[in-house]
Amino acid sequence: MKNPRLDQLDAYAFWRLDTLLENETPPADLEPLVMHVGEPKIPPPDFVAETINDCKAQWGSYPPHSGTVAYRKAAADWLNRRYNLPAGMIDGERNVLPVAGSKEGLFHMALLAVPGAETWTKPGRPLALMPNPVYPVYNGAALFAGAEAVSVSATVETDFMPDYAALDRDLLDRTVLAYLCNPANPQGSIADMEYMATLVRMAREYDFVLVFDECYSEIYRGGPPTGGLEVCAKLGGDLRNVMVLHSLSKRSSAPGLRAGIVSGDPELIDAYRAIRSYAGVSIPGPVMSAAEKLWQDEAHVEINRQHYVDLFAMAERILGNTPGFANPPGGFFLWLDVGDGEAMTRRLWTQAGVRVMPGGYMTKPDPETGENPGERYIRVALVHDKTFAEEALTRIANVLNG
Ligand SMILES: Cc1ncc(COP(=O)(O)O)c(C=O)c1O
Repeated sequence: MKNPRLDQLDAYAFWRLDTLLENETPPADLEPLVMHVGEPKIPPPDFVAETINDCKAQWGSYPPHSGTVAYRKAAADWLNRRYNLPAGMIDGERNVLPVAGSKEGLFHMALLAVPGAETWTKPGRPLALMPNPVYPVYNGAALFAGAEAVSVSATVETDFMPDYAALDRDLLDRTVLAYLCNPANPQGSIADMEYMATLVRMAREYDFVLVFDECYSEIYRGGPPTGGLEVCAKLGGDLRNVMVLHSLSKRSSAPGLRAGIVSGDPELIDAYRAIRSYAGVSIPGPVMSAAEKLWQDEAHVEINRQHYVDLFAMAERILGNTPGFANPPGGFFLWLDVGDGEAMTRRLWTQAGVRVMPGGYMTKPDPETGENPGERYIRVALVHDKTFAEEALTRIANVLNG
């Protein structure tokens, strides 16, 4: 009865972690500390709850699938300010749609890009390129849309970005979709303008949909990461083949709000509007009003960013001399080379009561070498307050250096 593709889904990393640790116990005298979930713990600004309350009359209406004009405008204005885009390049009515969190939009991008078998004329199946390690939604989206996922390793050798440009021409000929996570989860690497411009040119040459997942765009230590829209501006302002996802989950510490945006190619946005009217989850009116205010406000984002700067400085102080430590320029994860990520995850739990994610649960074995590029790593989410983070990092350092 059920769709056989369900059997091809990878077990979610969180379930695998639960299984790994189900028979292990943390030390009785230590409070267990959860560091494997990338969920910002800094509260969002108070005006979120206030606005939701002020707009309670809107609970009585179905919200529009495409969001309100005011929401799209607030988001477009933010994009224009953030990326200093030429006037008129991004317009709320032509280039922006709401998503109920970037996860929803990322999944839908495969419905937008992958043709059905009845119109596919090339050999094999259409391909979807994705980085390895990967946000698992890219894989699930490709699978359910009927594309074959091509996982491209993003390791220290490639500056933790996938080298799509090195793929064989016959693979690129069959590519209909490519995802890039920038800054990358989990490695925290940031792509530069030249690398991104190459991808945009490739998307146009081979005519695939290039999806930039920029949900970590506002969490960085040095300069602000270049965005996909900025690259299009640099290449003359044409948005063809490019779709960009942004989210309030990380930028505004509001993962529970489920509010984000997709922006880009007006033709693709038009097509996606149709998909949203069938399959999209509308953002509830009061939530959308609060989200609109978040796009308009930068003060809370700067406070959040500074908090992460302080946490990563703390990590450097506590773990800086530990072999395998690297301080990433973006995102809020430490990606630590510990030799054997699964074994270290078990040790950190049983010896220090700290729950982290084995890197190998976020990666697939490389089809050519058979090696799993995440196996040596653990992912540690630095998302808590400073007292919590100091305690967790100290316990981690004691185990890693013990
Ligand atoms: C790489 C990446 N993309 C997208 C998302 C989805 O975020 P949201 O749906 O909350 O915007 C996440 C969430 O953790 C993520 O890590």
